[in-house]
Amino acid sequence: MKPVLSVIGTGYLGATHAACMSSLGFTVIGVDSDSAKIDQLSRGELPFYEPGLEELLRQQIASGRLTFSTDFAIISNADVHFICVGTPQKENSLAADLSFVKGAIASVAPHLKSGSLVVGKSTVPVGTAQELTAILRAIAPQADLAWNPEFLREGFAIEDTLRPNRLVVGVTNDRAEHILKDVYAPILELGTPWIRADLPTSELVKVAANSFLATKISFINAMAEICEAAGGDVTVLAQAIGYDPRIGNKFLQAGIGFGGGCLPKDIRAFMARAEELGAEQALEFLREIDAINLRARARVIDVVRSMLSADLTSYKIAVLGAAFKPESDDVRDSPALDIAAQLHAAGATVTVHDPKAMAPAQKRFPTLNFAQSSQDCVADADIVLHLTEWKEYREIDPSLFKTLVKRPLIIDGRNALDRAKWTAAGWTFHALGRKN
Ligand code: UDX
Repeated sequence: MKPVLSVIGTGYLGATHAACMSSLGFTVIGVDSDSAKIDQLSRGELPFYEPGLEELLRQQIASGRLTFSTDFAIISNADVHFICVGTPQKENSLAADLSFVKGAIASVAPHLKSGSLVVGKSTVPVGTAQELTAILRAIAPQADLAWNPEFLREGFAIEDTLRPNRLVVGVTNDRAEHILKDVYAPILELGTPWIRADLPTSELVKVAANSFLATKISFINAMAEICEAAGGDVTVLAQAIGYDPRIGNKFLQAGIGFGGGCLPKDIRAFMARAEELGAEQALEFLREIDAINLRARARVIDVVRSMLSADLTSYKIAVLGAAFKPESDDVRDSPALDIAAQLHAAGATVTVHDPKAMAPAQKRFPTLNFAQSSQDCVADADIVLHLTEWKEYREIDPSLFKTLVKRPLIIDGRNALDRAKWTAAGWTFHALGRKN
């Protein structure tokens, strides 16, 4: 008999995990306190954009294995409970807000049947699992907690869940490991590496991985600053260092930097936790990683001023891209949208387009202008900013777009457009970290 699973928190991580585990043949109950979200998911509608996930959700609901509810009592049938709620950055601090995770543990605890296992997947500061075990056991003394960090990337959520490059489990006993091996058996059969760790190490793996990725991006963006100062080309530099297998060629795309719901808040929460642990010096470099990242946004605004004028009030600026990366409608801490908002605050008339993130972007910054197509977006613009590297922007015909704008000036904030094509069509093309 396959264990029955519950997934607590049906946001990005939870909805993906629930649909994917159902696709592996498990009966899965998704629970969330947000009734609007549960209604939407129950109808087979995804509250966000993720390639292929809505189709998978519908298939799994139709199979009868996947159901959603706001009622925690329903999880009393389940054997394994995955905690997938968010841990956003706190309002006035770098630290993570743990109220949702603690709330989820308190809501689950009264409904646990004997022998069931609670498994945290949310990204948490090291030491949280131990604290949560105490909260759990105060209500359900026999209950057991394991930690199983999730490494999924938006845009590749299904692939990363069903074919992850590793599975990491933090456990305190063999039984918990056996249960998790049973649940992940179909994924382990693919040869996926399995790492058993203690609770603190499993919590740290996630933030260490994200810190490393953030460091790679800020490293190449720091090199972009040097290339600009010295007349070098960061794209060639990245290619050249990337051939060294110790460095690798991934995550060396220079541009306006990282954003999204994970990398920025995870490195900040990691620094905050290190300080609590008295080990802040060890992560001092992450402050610089964050600063380099935010500086990339400021550098784009400086370039806009140098190409137009210090005073932006009479200028029309077209921004192509609002999502923090392509194949996503997520605008959380999006560098593209942040730049658009800063230019608007500086007095420019800013019009934004994004293939998928229009509604969330509009909700976040209602005072910006939004255009339904990239052509409408650039109409009569004094400058075009390419800030999220959607495929449709790479396919733009620069000659056609030149007839739409007031001045053919473009900044490629992602080093993703074909510069030769744009300059041949008569555009003044500025790329970050390259000779301009
Ligand atoms: C990230 C981690 O990759 C994932 O493992 C973790 O589970 C959650 O956080 P995600 O936020 O989906 O995933 O985005 P990712 O693909 O890592 O990109 C993060 C940001 O870095 C994006 O804004 C992207 O545009 C930027 N980026 C990425 C660069 O600027 N340059 C690069 O070379 C790569």
